[in-house]
Amino acid sequence: MENNVKKWLRGEGEAFLKDIGIRKGQTILDFGCGVGHYTIPAAKVTGKEGKVYAIDKDMDALQQLMQRAKSEGFKNVVPIKTSGELKINLENESVDVVLLYDVLHYMDVKERRKIYDEVYRILKSDGFFSVYPKHLKSDGALWNLSGMELEAIVKEIKREKFYFERKFFKSLIHDDNYDKGYILKFKKEREGN
Ligand SMILES: C[S@@+](CC[C@H](N)C(=O)[O-])C[C@H]1O[C@@H](n2cnc3c(N)ncnc32)[C@H](O)[C@@H]1O
Repeated sequence: MENNVKKWLRGEGEAFLKDIGIRKGQTILDFGCGVGHYTIPAAKVTGKEGKVYAIDKDMDALQQLMQRAKSEGFKNVVPIKTSGELKINLENESVDVVLLYDVLHYMDVKERRKIYDEVYRILKSDGFFSVYPKHLKSDGALWNLSGMELEAIVKEIKREKFYFERKFFKSLIHDDNYDKGYILKFKKEREGN
């Protein structure tokens, strides 16, 4: 399994993030980053002019991520400790991209609304919100998403003022394995507004 992660971190993760729209110099938030399967590639793509904030309530995972960032020489990963509260400790309109990957199933509908509100608040006006809603009804059903399908997630995020730009069906890493899944892209504002 470790080989999958190594392969992903060697280059496929970066290619994935470039493909969904991440660019050099951006400020990114990886909410529920875990050990950093997406944080580390994001740090590579955004480079030293950019920054990746990494939030997780699991201190061991955050520590593992920071050890990995240190050993690979990334100084642009900034851990933010939390006890799981849904208030994000970042300024209004300070972030270009928010990643919320494989986290929504932890949250009930009220908590999901809170996190969407917070993401909206911290995103810059031309920023985007990228969501990987794993564990839907037809994709390894689990916890709060086990009765929901993709369309329902799109609908509830749109309701929180976001503009739904597109979905990608992509090969990606889930836990320590390769998988395929839908990535949703929401903009804070429709282009041209
Ligand atoms: C399944 S892991 C996904 C990790 C990573 N995003 C990925 O896709 O590889 C979900 C992570 O979200 C974190 N998490 C869940 N709810 C959270 C909350 N309210 N605040 C911070 N972290 C949370 C968990 O601790 C866990 O590390």
